[in-house]
Amino acid sequence: MPLTRRTLIAASLSITFALAPLTSAFAASPQPAKGEHGMVVTAQHLASEVGIDVLKKGGNAVDAAVAVGYALAVVYPNAGNIGGGGFMTIRFKDGKSTFLDFRERAPLAATKTMYLDKDGNPVKGASLDGYLAVGVPGSVAGLELAREKYGKLSRQDLMAPAIGYAKDGFILNQGDATSFAGSADRLAKDPAAAAIFLKPDGKPYGIGERLVQPDLAASLAAISEKGPDAFYKGAIADAIVKASGAKGGILAKPDFEQYAVRELKPVTCTYRGYEITSSPPPSSGGVIICEILNVLEGYPLSYLGAGSAETIHVMIEAMRYAYVDRNSALGDPDFVDNPVSKLLDKAYAKDIRDKIDPFRAGVSQELMPKGFGESKETTHYSIIDDDGNAVAVTYTLNGSFGAGVVADGTGILLNNEMDDFTQKPGVPNLYGLVQGEANAIQSKKTPLSSMSPTVVAKDGKPFMVIGSPGGSRIITITLEAIVNVIDHGMNIQEAIDAPRIHHQWLPDKVYVEPFGLSPDTEKLLAGMGYHLDLADQTWGQAAGILVGGKSLAEIEKGGGARYNGAIDSRAASGEALGY
Ligand code: DON
Repeated sequence: MPLTRRTLIAASLSITFALAPLTSAFAASPQPAKGEHGMVVTAQHLASEVGIDVLKKGGNAVDAAVAVGYALAVVYPNAGNIGGGGFMTIRFKDGKSTFLDFRERAPLAATKTMYLDKDGNPVKGASLDGYLAVGVPGSVAGLELAREKYGKLSRQDLMAPAIGYAKDGFILNQGDATSFAGSADRLAKDPAAAAIFLKPDGKPYGIGERLVQPDLAASLAAISEKGPDAFYKGAIADAIVKASGAKGGILAKPDFEQYAVRELKPVTCTYRGYEITSSPPPSSGGVIICEILNVLEGYPLSYLGAGSAETIHVMIEAMRYAYVDRNSALGDPDFVDNPVSKLLDKAYAKDIRDKIDPFRAGVSQELMPKGFGESKETTHYSIIDDDGNAVAVTYTLNGSFGAGVVADGTGILLNNEMDDFTQKPGVPNLYGLVQGEANAIQSKKTPLSSMSPTVVAKDGKPFMVIGSPGGSRIITITLEAIVNVIDHGMNIQEAIDAPRIHHQWLPDKVYVEPFGLSPDTEKLLAGMGYHLDLADQTWGQAAGILVGGKSLAEIEKGGGARYNGAIDSRAASGEALGY
Protein backbone atom coordinates (compact mmCIF):
# COMPACT_ATOMS: atom_id res chain seq x y z
CA MET A 1 0.00 0.00 0.00
CA PRO A 2 1.37 3.49 -0.78
CA LEU A 3 2.64 5.44 2.18
CA THR A 4 0.09 8.22 2.57
CA ARG A 5 -0.50 10.83 5.25
CA ARG A 6 -3.65 8.90 6.07
CA THR A 7 -1.77 5.62 6.59
CA LEU A 8 0.88 7.38 8.65
CA ILE A 9 -1.71 9.01 10.88
CA ALA A 10 -3.64 5.73 11.07
CA ALA A 11 -0.51 3.84 12.03
CA SER A 12 0.20 6.22 14.89
CA LEU A 13 -3.43 6.27 16.06
CA SER A 14 -3.83 2.50 15.90
CA ILE A 15 -1.43 2.19 18.81
CA THR A 16 -4.17 3.49 21.08
CA PHE A 17 -7.41 3.06 19.09
CA ALA A 18 -8.87 0.12 17.24
CA LEU A 19 -9.46 1.71 13.85
CA ALA A 20 -11.84 0.54 11.16
CA PRO A 21 -9.94 -0.63 8.06
CA LEU A 22 -8.76 2.33 6.03
CA THR A 23 -10.61 1.21 2.93
CA SER A 24 -13.83 2.26 4.64
CA ALA A 25 -12.64 5.85 4.35
CA PHE A 26 -14.36 5.98 0.94
CA ALA A 27 -17.44 4.08 2.06
CA ALA A 28 -19.67 6.24 -0.14
CA SER A 29 -18.86 4.01 -3.11
CA PRO A 30 -20.51 0.64 -3.66
CA GLN A 31 -18.25 -2.41 -3.76
CA PRO A 32 -16.74 -3.27 -7.15
CA ALA A 33 -18.23 -6.22 -9.06
CA LYS A 34 -16.20 -9.42 -8.79
CA GLY A 35 -15.36 -12.11 -11.31
CA GLU A 36 -12.88 -14.96 -11.68
CA HIS A 37 -13.14 -15.61 -15.45
CA GLY A 38 -14.13 -12.36 -17.08
CA MET A 39 -15.44 -8.85 -16.54
CA VAL A 40 -17.45 -6.51 -18.75
CA VAL A 41 -18.13 -2.92 -17.72
CA THR A 42 -20.32 -0.74 -19.93
CA ALA A 43 -22.62 2.26 -19.62
CA GLN A 44 -25.78 0.19 -20.32
CA HIS A 45 -26.67 -2.92 -18.34
CA LEU A 46 -28.10 -4.88 -21.30
CA ALA A 47 -24.88 -4.33 -23.24
CA SER A 48 -22.86 -5.61 -20.26
CA GLU A 49 -24.99 -8.78 -20.31
CA VAL A 50 -24.37 -9.20 -24.04
CA GLY A 51 -20.61 -9.00 -23.43
CA ILE A 52 -20.63 -11.49 -20.54
CA ASP A 53 -22.71 -13.95 -22.59
CA VAL A 54 -20.12 -13.82 -25.37
CA LEU A 55 -17.30 -14.55 -22.89
CA LYS A 56 -19.28 -17.45 -21.37
CA LYS A 57 -19.85 -18.87 -24.86
CA GLY A 58 -16.10 -19.03 -25.44
CA GLY A 59 -15.58 -15.73 -27.21
CA ASN A 60 -12.52 -13.71 -26.25
CA ALA A 61 -12.43 -10.10 -25.01
CA VAL A 62 -12.32 -8.78 -28.60
CA ASP A 63 -15.43 -10.80 -29.51
CA ALA A 64 -17.18 -9.39 -26.45
CA ALA A 65 -16.07 -5.86 -27.38
CA VAL A 66 -17.53 -6.26 -30.89
CA ALA A 67 -20.85 -7.59 -29.58
CA VAL A 68 -21.01 -4.81 -26.99
CA GLY A 69 -20.20 -2.20 -29.65
CA TYR A 70 -23.19 -3.29 -31.74
CA ALA A 71 -25.45 -3.72 -28.69
CA LEU A 72 -24.74 -0.20 -27.40
CA ALA A 73 -25.67 1.16 -30.84
CA VAL A 74 -29.18 -0.10 -30.04
CA VAL A 75 -29.62 0.20 -26.26
CA TYR A 76 -27.50 3.34 -25.71
CA PRO A 77 -28.25 5.40 -28.82
CA ASN A 78 -27.03 8.70 -27.39
CA ALA A 79 -23.44 7.46 -27.76
CA GLY A 80 -23.35 3.81 -28.80
CA ASN A 81 -23.25 3.85 -32.56
CA ILE A 82 -22.65 2.55 -36.01
CA GLY A 83 -22.88 6.09 -37.40
CA GLY A 84 -19.84 7.38 -35.52
CA GLY A 85 -16.36 6.17 -34.76
CA GLY A 86 -13.88 5.31 -32.06
CA PHE A 87 -10.77 3.60 -30.80
CA MET A 88 -9.94 0.15 -29.47
CA THR A 89 -6.85 -0.53 -27.38
CA ILE A 90 -6.06 -4.23 -27.04
CA ARG A 91 -3.48 -5.76 -24.72
CA PHE A 92 -3.18 -9.45 -25.54
CA LYS A 93 -2.50 -12.19 -23.02
CA ASP A 94 1.13 -12.43 -24.27
CA GLY A 95 1.75 -8.77 -23.39
CA LYS A 96 1.67 -7.50 -27.00
CA SER A 97 -0.70 -4.68 -27.77
CA THR A 98 -2.33 -2.92 -30.69
CA PHE A 99 -4.66 -0.02 -31.42
CA LEU A 100 -7.49 0.28 -33.93
CA ASP A 101 -8.41 3.76 -35.14
CA PHE A 102 -11.91 3.65 -36.59
CA ARG A 103 -12.62 7.31 -35.98
CA GLU A 104 -14.42 9.48 -38.51
CA ARG A 105 -12.58 11.11 -41.41
CA ALA A 106 -13.47 14.49 -42.95
CA PRO A 107 -15.43 14.12 -46.20
CA LEU A 108 -13.47 14.54 -49.45
CA ALA A 109 -15.22 17.86 -50.06
CA ALA A 110 -14.35 19.25 -46.60
CA THR A 111 -12.37 22.49 -46.48
CA LYS A 112 -10.52 24.40 -43.80
CA THR A 113 -13.07 27.21 -43.71
CA MET A 114 -16.26 25.21 -44.22
CA TYR A 115 -17.81 26.40 -40.94
CA LEU A 116 -16.96 30.10 -41.39
CA ASP A 117 -19.19 32.80 -42.86
CA LYS A 118 -18.03 35.30 -45.49
CA ASP A 119 -16.44 37.45 -42.80
CA GLY A 120 -14.46 34.52 -41.47
CA ASN A 121 -16.55 33.98 -38.34
CA PRO A 122 -17.85 30.56 -37.25
CA VAL A 123 -21.49 29.95 -38.18
CA LYS A 124 -23.24 28.96 -34.96
CA GLY A 125 -24.16 25.27 -34.86
CA ALA A 126 -22.82 24.48 -38.34
CA SER A 127 -20.27 21.95 -37.06
CA LEU A 128 -22.72 20.48 -34.55
CA ASP A 129 -26.18 20.15 -36.09
CA GLY A 130 -27.31 18.48 -39.27
CA TYR A 131 -25.48 16.80 -42.13
CA LEU A 132 -22.64 19.31 -42.55
CA ALA A 133 -21.41 18.24 -39.08
CA VAL A 134 -21.06 14.58 -40.03
CA GLY A 135 -17.69 12.88 -40.45
CA VAL A 136 -17.41 9.64 -42.45
CA PRO A 137 -18.35 6.93 -39.91
CA GLY A 138 -15.87 4.22 -38.98
CA SER A 139 -17.51 2.00 -36.34
CA VAL A 140 -18.73 -0.79 -38.64
CA ALA A 141 -15.33 -1.11 -40.36
CA GLY A 142 -13.53 -1.00 -37.01
CA LEU A 143 -15.64 -3.58 -35.22
CA GLU A 144 -15.42 -5.95 -38.20
CA LEU A 145 -11.64 -5.60 -38.53
CA ALA A 146 -11.27 -6.31 -34.80
CA ARG A 147 -13.46 -9.39 -35.07
CA GLU A 148 -11.86 -10.73 -38.24
CA LYS A 149 -8.28 -10.27 -37.08
CA TYR A 150 -8.47 -10.89 -33.34
CA GLY A 151 -11.85 -12.47 -32.55
CA LYS A 152 -12.95 -16.10 -32.60
CA LEU A 153 -16.70 -15.99 -33.20
CA SER A 154 -18.76 -15.26 -36.33
CA ARG A 155 -20.14 -11.82 -37.15
CA GLN A 156 -23.64 -13.29 -37.13
CA ASP A 157 -23.18 -14.62 -33.58
CA LEU A 158 -21.82 -11.32 -32.31
CA MET A 159 -24.47 -9.15 -33.97
CA ALA A 160 -27.50 -11.29 -33.09
CA PRO A 161 -28.16 -9.74 -29.64
CA ALA A 162 -28.07 -6.20 -31.07
CA ILE A 163 -30.43 -7.15 -33.88
CA GLY A 164 -32.76 -8.75 -31.31
CA TYR A 165 -32.87 -5.61 -29.13
CA ALA A 166 -33.49 -3.42 -32.19
CA LYS A 167 -36.24 -5.67 -33.59
CA ASP A 168 -38.05 -6.63 -30.38
CA GLY A 169 -37.19 -3.51 -28.43
CA PHE A 170 -35.99 -3.04 -24.88
CA ILE A 171 -37.54 -1.52 -21.77
CA LEU A 172 -36.11 1.82 -20.69
CA ASN A 173 -34.94 2.30 -17.11
CA GLN A 174 -34.51 5.65 -15.41
CA GLY A 175 -31.02 6.29 -16.79
CA ASP A 176 -32.09 5.48 -20.36
CA ALA A 177 -35.20 7.67 -20.09
CA THR A 178 -33.22 10.62 -18.74
CA SER A 179 -30.86 10.63 -21.70
CA PHE A 180 -33.79 10.59 -24.15
CA ALA A 181 -35.64 13.35 -22.34
CA GLY A 182 -32.55 15.58 -22.40
CA SER A 183 -32.31 15.48 -26.20
CA ALA A 184 -36.00 15.44 -27.16
CA ASP A 185 -36.03 18.99 -28.56
CA ARG A 186 -33.04 18.32 -30.75
CA LEU A 187 -34.33 15.00 -32.04
CA ALA A 188 -37.70 16.61 -32.83
CA LYS A 189 -36.01 18.73 -35.53
CA ASP A 190 -35.21 15.73 -37.75
CA PRO A 191 -38.40 13.87 -38.82
CA ALA A 192 -36.58 10.52 -39.26
CA ALA A 193 -34.91 10.78 -35.82
CA ALA A 194 -38.17 11.93 -34.22
CA ALA A 195 -40.05 8.98 -35.72
CA ILE A 196 -37.70 6.60 -33.90
CA PHE A 197 -36.90 8.28 -30.60
CA LEU A 198 -40.09 10.21 -29.86
CA LYS A 199 -43.60 8.88 -29.38
CA PRO A 200 -46.37 9.87 -31.83
CA ASP A 201 -47.36 12.65 -29.40
CA GLY A 202 -43.82 14.08 -29.70
CA LYS A 203 -42.83 13.16 -26.14
CA PRO A 204 -39.73 11.09 -25.35
CA TYR A 205 -40.13 7.47 -24.23
CA GLY A 206 -40.29 7.18 -20.45
CA ILE A 207 -39.33 4.71 -17.74
CA GLY A 208 -40.83 1.26 -18.34
CA GLU A 209 -41.66 1.96 -22.00
CA ARG A 210 -40.29 -0.12 -24.87
CA LEU A 211 -38.14 1.36 -27.65
CA VAL A 212 -38.31 -0.63 -30.89
CA GLN A 213 -36.02 0.28 -33.84
CA PRO A 214 -37.07 -1.76 -36.91
CA ASP A 215 -35.02 0.24 -39.46
CA LEU A 216 -31.88 -0.13 -37.35
CA ALA A 217 -32.64 -3.87 -37.04
CA ALA A 218 -32.75 -4.11 -40.84
CA SER A 219 -29.48 -2.17 -41.25
CA LEU A 220 -27.75 -4.36 -38.65
CA ALA A 221 -29.15 -7.52 -40.28
CA ALA A 222 -27.75 -6.41 -43.66
CA ILE A 223 -24.32 -5.79 -42.11
CA SER A 224 -24.49 -9.13 -40.27
CA GLU A 225 -25.23 -10.94 -43.51
CA LYS A 226 -23.01 -9.09 -46.01
CA GLY A 227 -20.34 -7.48 -43.83
CA PRO A 228 -19.20 -3.84 -43.87
CA ASP A 229 -19.83 -3.55 -47.63
CA ALA A 230 -23.53 -3.40 -46.75
CA PHE A 231 -22.75 -0.16 -44.92
CA TYR A 232 -19.97 1.38 -47.04
CA LYS A 233 -20.81 0.23 -50.56
CA GLY A 234 -24.52 -0.58 -50.52
CA ALA A 235 -27.94 0.82 -49.77
CA ILE A 236 -27.01 2.30 -46.38
CA ALA A 237 -24.29 4.56 -47.81
CA ASP A 238 -26.63 5.48 -50.67
CA ALA A 239 -29.37 6.52 -48.23
CA ILE A 240 -26.99 8.62 -46.11
CA VAL A 241 -25.44 10.32 -49.16
CA LYS A 242 -28.91 11.08 -50.54
CA ALA A 243 -30.14 12.57 -47.25
CA SER A 244 -26.90 14.52 -46.85
CA GLY A 245 -27.20 16.02 -50.35
CA ALA A 246 -30.82 16.98 -49.76
CA LYS A 247 -30.14 18.60 -46.37
CA GLY A 248 -27.03 20.69 -46.75
CA GLY A 249 -24.32 18.05 -46.25
CA ILE A 250 -21.30 17.17 -48.40
CA LEU A 251 -21.01 13.39 -47.92
CA ALA A 252 -20.42 11.51 -51.18
CA LYS A 253 -20.32 7.80 -52.04
CA PRO A 254 -16.50 7.78 -52.47
CA ASP A 255 -16.20 8.96 -48.84
CA PHE A 256 -17.74 5.67 -47.77
CA GLU A 257 -15.98 3.53 -50.38
CA GLN A 258 -12.57 4.89 -49.39
CA TYR A 259 -12.98 4.62 -45.61
CA ALA A 260 -10.22 2.50 -44.08
CA VAL A 261 -9.44 1.58 -40.47
CA ARG A 262 -5.88 2.33 -39.32
CA GLU A 263 -4.08 -0.15 -37.10
CA LEU A 264 -1.53 1.85 -35.11
CA LYS A 265 1.08 1.29 -32.45
CA PRO A 266 -0.38 2.40 -29.12
CA VAL A 267 1.34 5.07 -27.03
CA THR A 268 3.22 3.55 -24.10
CA CYS A 269 4.93 5.03 -21.05
CA THR A 270 5.75 4.06 -17.49
CA TYR A 271 4.44 5.58 -14.26
CA ARG A 272 6.06 4.53 -10.99
CA GLY A 273 6.82 1.12 -12.47
CA TYR A 274 3.40 0.60 -14.10
CA GLU A 275 3.23 0.28 -17.89
CA ILE A 276 0.56 2.45 -19.53
CA THR A 277 -0.77 1.52 -23.01
CA SER A 278 -3.15 4.05 -24.52
CA SER A 279 -4.33 5.90 -27.60
CA PRO A 280 -1.84 7.47 -30.07
CA PRO A 281 -2.67 10.35 -32.48
CA PRO A 282 -5.23 10.99 -33.93
CA SER A 283 -6.06 10.88 -30.26
CA SER A 284 -4.30 13.22 -27.93
CA GLY A 285 -5.39 11.00 -25.04
CA GLY A 286 -2.49 8.60 -24.52
CA VAL A 287 0.22 11.19 -25.19
CA ILE A 288 -1.28 13.75 -22.84
CA ILE A 289 -2.05 11.25 -20.06
CA CYS A 290 1.59 10.09 -20.27
CA GLU A 291 2.92 13.65 -20.34
CA ILE A 292 0.93 14.53 -17.21
CA LEU A 293 1.93 11.29 -15.45
CA ASN A 294 5.60 11.93 -16.28
CA VAL A 295 5.35 15.34 -14.63
CA LEU A 296 3.48 13.95 -11.60
CA GLU A 297 6.01 11.14 -11.14
CA GLY A 298 8.38 13.72 -9.70
CA TYR A 299 6.03 14.60 -6.83
CA PRO A 300 5.18 12.42 -3.79
CA LEU A 301 1.44 12.46 -4.50
CA SER A 302 0.59 9.67 -2.12
CA TYR A 303 2.31 11.53 0.72
CA LEU A 304 0.71 14.85 -0.25
CA GLY A 305 -2.67 13.14 -0.13
CA ALA A 306 -5.79 12.89 -2.27
CA GLY A 307 -7.53 16.24 -2.59
CA SER A 308 -4.90 18.27 -0.72
CA ALA A 309 -4.10 21.72 -2.05
CA GLU A 310 -0.51 20.61 -2.80
CA THR A 311 -1.65 17.61 -4.83
CA ILE A 312 -4.30 19.61 -6.70
CA HIS A 313 -1.76 22.37 -7.42
CA VAL A 314 0.76 20.09 -9.13
CA MET A 315 -1.99 18.22 -10.97
CA ILE A 316 -3.44 21.44 -12.37
CA GLU A 317 -0.03 22.72 -13.45
CA ALA A 318 0.82 19.42 -15.16
CA MET A 319 -2.56 19.55 -16.93
CA ARG A 320 -2.02 23.19 -17.96
CA TYR A 321 1.33 22.47 -19.65
CA ALA A 322 0.13 19.26 -21.28
CA TYR A 323 -3.04 20.81 -22.74
CA VAL A 324 -0.96 23.56 -24.39
CA ASP A 325 0.84 20.77 -26.23
CA ARG A 326 -2.42 18.98 -26.95
CA ASN A 327 -4.13 22.01 -28.40
CA SER A 328 -1.23 23.39 -30.40
CA ALA A 329 0.91 20.49 -31.57
CA LEU A 330 -1.18 17.37 -32.18
CA GLY A 331 -3.27 16.22 -35.11
CA ASP A 332 -3.94 13.36 -37.52
CA PRO A 333 -0.59 11.56 -38.01
CA ASP A 334 -1.18 11.28 -41.79
CA PHE A 335 -1.19 15.08 -41.99
CA VAL A 336 0.88 16.34 -39.05
CA ASP A 337 4.32 15.50 -37.74
CA ASN A 338 3.36 14.90 -34.11
CA PRO A 339 6.18 15.52 -31.60
CA VAL A 340 5.24 12.36 -29.69
CA SER A 341 8.72 11.32 -28.54
CA LYS A 342 9.45 14.81 -27.20
CA LEU A 343 6.17 14.93 -25.28
CA LEU A 344 6.77 11.45 -23.82
CA ASP A 345 10.34 12.17 -22.77
CA LYS A 346 10.90 12.10 -18.98
CA ALA A 347 13.47 14.91 -19.40
CA TYR A 348 10.76 17.10 -20.97
CA ALA A 349 8.58 16.38 -17.94
CA LYS A 350 11.41 17.48 -15.69
CA ASP A 351 11.70 20.76 -17.65
CA ILE A 352 8.00 21.32 -16.96
CA ARG A 353 8.42 20.54 -13.25
CA ASP A 354 11.28 23.03 -13.09
CA LYS A 355 8.94 25.73 -14.40
CA ILE A 356 6.17 25.01 -11.88
CA ASP A 357 6.22 27.47 -8.98
CA PRO A 358 5.62 25.41 -5.82
CA PHE A 359 3.51 28.13 -4.25
CA ARG A 360 1.71 29.94 -7.10
CA ALA A 361 -0.75 29.16 -9.86
CA GLY A 362 0.66 29.40 -13.37
CA VAL A 363 -0.85 31.77 -15.93
CA SER A 364 -2.15 30.19 -19.13
CA GLN A 365 -1.68 33.26 -21.33
CA GLU A 366 2.05 33.16 -20.56
CA LEU A 367 2.24 29.70 -22.17
CA MET A 368 0.68 30.81 -25.47
CA PRO A 369 2.78 29.14 -28.21
CA LYS A 370 4.26 31.46 -30.84
CA GLY A 371 1.92 31.99 -33.79
CA PHE A 372 -0.93 30.04 -32.14
CA GLY A 373 -3.70 32.54 -32.90
CA GLU A 374 -2.91 32.98 -36.61
CA SER A 375 -4.28 31.60 -39.62
CA LYS A 376 -22.03 14.86 -25.66
CA GLU A 377 -21.74 12.11 -26.06
CA THR A 378 -19.31 9.26 -25.98
CA THR A 379 -19.14 5.94 -24.23
CA HIS A 380 -16.34 3.78 -22.90
CA TYR A 381 -16.32 0.08 -22.04
CA SER A 382 -13.68 -2.17 -20.51
CA ILE A 383 -13.47 -5.95 -20.93
CA ILE A 384 -11.11 -8.70 -19.81
CA ASP A 385 -11.38 -12.43 -20.50
CA ASP A 386 -10.26 -15.63 -18.78
CA ASP A 387 -6.96 -15.67 -20.70
CA GLY A 388 -6.12 -12.11 -19.61
CA ASN A 389 -6.79 -10.40 -22.96
CA ALA A 390 -7.82 -6.84 -22.09
CA VAL A 391 -9.82 -4.56 -24.38
CA ALA A 392 -10.65 -0.89 -23.84
CA VAL A 393 -13.02 0.79 -26.30
CA THR A 394 -14.15 4.39 -26.44
CA TYR A 395 -16.47 5.26 -29.31
CA THR A 396 -18.72 8.19 -29.96
CA LEU A 397 -21.18 10.25 -31.93
CA ASN A 398 -19.46 13.27 -30.28
CA GLY A 399 -22.42 15.25 -28.89
CA SER A 400 -25.38 13.42 -27.36
CA PHE A 401 -27.23 11.71 -30.26
CA GLY A 402 -24.52 13.15 -32.57
CA ALA A 403 -25.75 15.50 -35.28
CA GLY A 404 -29.30 14.50 -34.33
CA VAL A 405 -30.03 13.20 -37.83
CA VAL A 406 -31.00 9.82 -39.28
CA ALA A 407 -31.15 9.13 -43.03
CA ASP A 408 -34.61 7.80 -43.92
CA GLY A 409 -34.90 4.04 -43.68
CA THR A 410 -31.51 3.42 -42.05
CA GLY A 411 -32.33 3.92 -38.35
CA ILE A 412 -28.72 5.08 -37.92
CA LEU A 413 -27.93 8.23 -35.93
CA LEU A 414 -25.05 10.16 -37.47
CA ASN A 415 -22.17 11.81 -35.63
CA ASN A 416 -21.17 15.47 -35.36
CA GLU A 417 -17.47 14.68 -35.03
CA MET A 418 -16.43 17.50 -37.42
CA ASP A 419 -16.75 19.84 -34.43
CA ASP A 420 -13.60 18.28 -32.95
CA PHE A 421 -11.54 20.04 -35.65
CA THR A 422 -10.26 23.59 -35.28
CA GLN A 423 -12.87 25.66 -37.10
CA LYS A 424 -10.79 28.75 -36.63
CA PRO A 425 -7.63 28.96 -34.51
CA GLY A 426 -8.46 30.45 -31.14
CA VAL A 427 -12.21 29.77 -31.32
CA PRO A 428 -13.40 27.24 -28.69
CA ASN A 429 -15.31 24.12 -29.75
CA LEU A 430 -18.13 22.26 -27.95
CA TYR A 431 -15.73 21.31 -25.15
CA GLY A 432 -14.19 24.77 -24.86
CA LEU A 433 -10.97 23.55 -26.48
CA VAL A 434 -9.01 26.33 -28.11
CA GLN A 435 -6.98 24.59 -30.80
CA GLY A 436 -4.53 25.46 -33.57
CA GLU A 437 -3.43 24.70 -37.11
CA ALA A 438 -2.30 21.12 -36.49
CA ASN A 439 -5.96 20.20 -36.13
CA ALA A 440 -7.29 22.33 -39.02
CA ILE A 441 -9.87 20.75 -41.32
CA GLN A 442 -8.59 18.98 -44.44
CA SER A 443 -10.16 16.52 -46.84
CA LYS A 444 -9.92 12.93 -45.47
CA LYS A 445 -8.26 14.11 -42.26
CA THR A 446 -9.38 12.82 -38.84
CA PRO A 447 -10.14 15.38 -36.14
CA LEU A 448 -7.98 15.29 -33.02
CA SER A 449 -9.65 13.33 -30.22
CA SER A 450 -9.28 13.11 -26.45
CA MET A 451 -10.57 9.55 -26.22
CA SER A 452 -8.22 7.48 -24.11
CA PRO A 453 -8.99 3.75 -23.96
CA THR A 454 -6.17 2.61 -21.69
CA VAL A 455 -4.69 -0.60 -20.30
CA VAL A 456 -2.20 -0.46 -17.41
CA ALA A 457 0.11 -3.41 -16.75
CA LYS A 458 2.46 -4.30 -13.90
CA ASP A 459 5.30 -6.81 -14.13
CA GLY A 460 4.10 -7.86 -17.57
CA LYS A 461 0.55 -8.65 -16.42
CA PRO A 462 -2.67 -6.67 -16.94
CA PHE A 463 -3.40 -4.44 -13.94
CA MET A 464 -6.12 -1.99 -14.92
CA VAL A 465 -8.45 -1.32 -17.87
CA ILE A 466 -9.87 2.19 -17.91
CA GLY A 467 -11.45 4.98 -19.96
CA SER A 468 -14.39 7.38 -20.05
CA PRO A 469 -16.47 9.76 -22.13
CA GLY A 470 -16.27 13.47 -21.30
CA GLY A 471 -14.94 15.39 -24.32
CA SER A 472 -11.75 17.26 -23.47
CA ARG A 473 -12.05 16.01 -19.87
CA ILE A 474 -11.62 12.34 -20.87
CA ILE A 475 -7.88 12.76 -20.42
CA THR A 476 -8.06 14.06 -16.86
CA ILE A 477 -10.85 11.63 -15.88
CA THR A 478 -8.72 8.67 -16.99
CA LEU A 479 -5.58 10.14 -15.43
CA GLU A 480 -7.27 10.77 -12.08
CA ALA A 481 -8.63 7.20 -11.92
CA ILE A 482 -5.08 5.87 -12.47
CA VAL A 483 -3.55 8.22 -9.87
CA ASN A 484 -6.33 7.45 -7.36
CA VAL A 485 -5.52 3.73 -7.56
CA ILE A 486 -1.73 3.92 -7.76
CA ASP A 487 -0.96 6.90 -5.53
CA HIS A 488 -3.93 7.19 -3.21
CA GLY A 489 -4.70 3.51 -2.67
CA MET A 490 -8.39 3.79 -3.58
CA ASN A 491 -10.24 0.73 -4.77
CA ILE A 492 -11.33 0.78 -8.40
CA GLN A 493 -14.88 1.95 -7.61
CA GLU A 494 -13.68 4.69 -5.25
CA ALA A 495 -11.05 5.77 -7.79
CA ILE A 496 -13.73 6.21 -10.43
CA ASP A 497 -16.34 7.78 -8.16
CA ALA A 498 -13.99 10.27 -6.46
CA PRO A 499 -14.84 13.92 -7.29
CA ARG A 500 -12.90 15.29 -10.25
CA ILE A 501 -11.00 18.43 -11.10
CA HIS A 502 -10.03 19.55 -14.58
CA HIS A 503 -7.86 22.18 -16.24
CA GLN A 504 -7.30 22.43 -20.00
CA TRP A 505 -5.01 25.44 -20.33
CA LEU A 506 -7.75 27.68 -21.77
CA PRO A 507 -9.97 28.93 -20.29
CA ASP A 508 -7.62 29.47 -17.35
CA LYS A 509 -9.88 27.94 -14.69
CA VAL A 510 -9.99 24.88 -12.53
CA TYR A 511 -13.26 22.99 -12.94
CA VAL A 512 -14.29 21.24 -9.73
CA GLU A 513 -17.15 18.76 -9.30
CA PRO A 514 -19.71 19.41 -6.54
CA PHE A 515 -18.11 18.84 -3.11
CA GLY A 516 -14.85 18.03 -4.92
CA LEU A 517 -12.71 20.14 -2.60
CA SER A 518 -13.14 21.14 1.02
CA PRO A 519 -13.69 24.86 1.70
CA ASP A 520 -10.21 24.94 3.31
CA THR A 521 -8.60 23.54 0.16
CA GLU A 522 -10.60 25.94 -2.02
CA LYS A 523 -9.27 28.84 0.06
CA LEU A 524 -5.69 27.62 -0.15
CA LEU A 525 -5.93 27.25 -3.93
CA ALA A 526 -7.59 30.63 -4.38
CA GLY A 527 -4.77 32.11 -2.31
CA MET A 528 -2.25 30.61 -4.72
CA GLY A 529 -3.98 32.43 -7.57
CA TYR A 530 -6.33 29.78 -8.96
CA HIS A 531 -9.69 30.63 -10.50
CA LEU A 532 -11.98 27.85 -9.33
CA ASP A 533 -15.12 27.06 -11.29
CA LEU A 534 -17.25 25.21 -8.75
CA ALA A 535 -19.44 23.40 -11.24
CA ASP A 536 -22.92 22.28 -10.26
CA GLN A 537 -22.53 19.30 -12.56
CA THR A 538 -20.50 16.13 -12.56
CA TRP A 539 -18.78 14.85 -15.68
CA GLY A 540 -17.63 11.56 -17.19
CA GLN A 541 -18.79 7.97 -16.95
CA ALA A 542 -15.63 5.93 -16.43
CA ALA A 543 -15.64 2.14 -16.76
CA GLY A 544 -12.75 0.29 -15.13
CA ILE A 545 -11.37 -3.09 -14.16
CA LEU A 546 -8.63 -3.85 -11.62
CA VAL A 547 -6.89 -7.22 -11.71
CA GLY A 548 -5.92 -9.24 -8.62
CA GLY A 549 -7.92 -7.30 -6.03
CA LYS A 550 -10.16 -4.29 -5.71
CA SER A 551 -7.31 -2.05 -4.54
CA LEU A 552 -3.52 -2.09 -4.26
CA ALA A 553 -3.85 -2.99 -0.58
CA GLU A 554 -5.99 -6.03 -1.38
CA ILE A 555 -3.67 -7.05 -4.22
CA GLU A 556 -0.67 -6.85 -1.92
CA LYS A 557 -2.44 -9.00 0.66
CA GLY A 558 -3.23 -11.48 -2.13
CA GLY A 559 -6.82 -11.74 -0.99
CA GLY A 560 -8.88 -10.19 -3.75
CA ALA A 561 -11.07 -11.41 -6.56
CA ARG A 562 -9.21 -11.90 -9.83
CA TYR A 563 -11.29 -9.30 -11.68
CA ASN A 564 -12.86 -6.25 -10.03
CA GLY A 565 -15.15 -4.10 -12.15
CA ALA A 566 -16.54 -0.64 -11.55
CA ILE A 567 -18.94 1.47 -13.55
CA ASP A 568 -19.00 5.14 -12.62
CA SER A 569 -21.72 5.95 -10.08
CA ARG A 570 -22.46 8.88 -12.41
CA ALA A 571 -23.59 6.39 -15.12
CA ALA A 572 -27.26 5.82 -14.36
CA SER A 573 -27.79 2.86 -16.64
CA GLY A 574 -24.44 1.10 -16.58
CA GLU A 575 -23.29 -2.13 -15.02
CA ALA A 576 -20.09 -3.98 -14.18
CA LEU A 577 -20.65 -7.71 -14.61
CA GLY A 578 -18.21 -10.46 -13.74
CA TYR A 579 -18.43 -14.25 -13.87
O1 DON B 1 -13.14 12.45 -29.58
C1 DON B 1 -13.34 13.28 -28.71
O2 DON B 1 -12.47 13.73 -28.00
C2 DON B 1 -14.77 13.74 -28.48
N1 DON B 1 -15.51 13.66 -29.70
C3 DON B 1 -15.38 12.94 -27.37
C4 DON B 1 -16.79 13.34 -27.08
C5 DON B 1 -17.28 12.94 -25.75
O3 DON B 1 -16.59 12.39 -24.94
C6 DON B 1 -18.68 13.31 -25.43
N2 DON B 1 -19.10 12.77 -24.17
N3 DON B 1 -19.37 13.28 -23.16
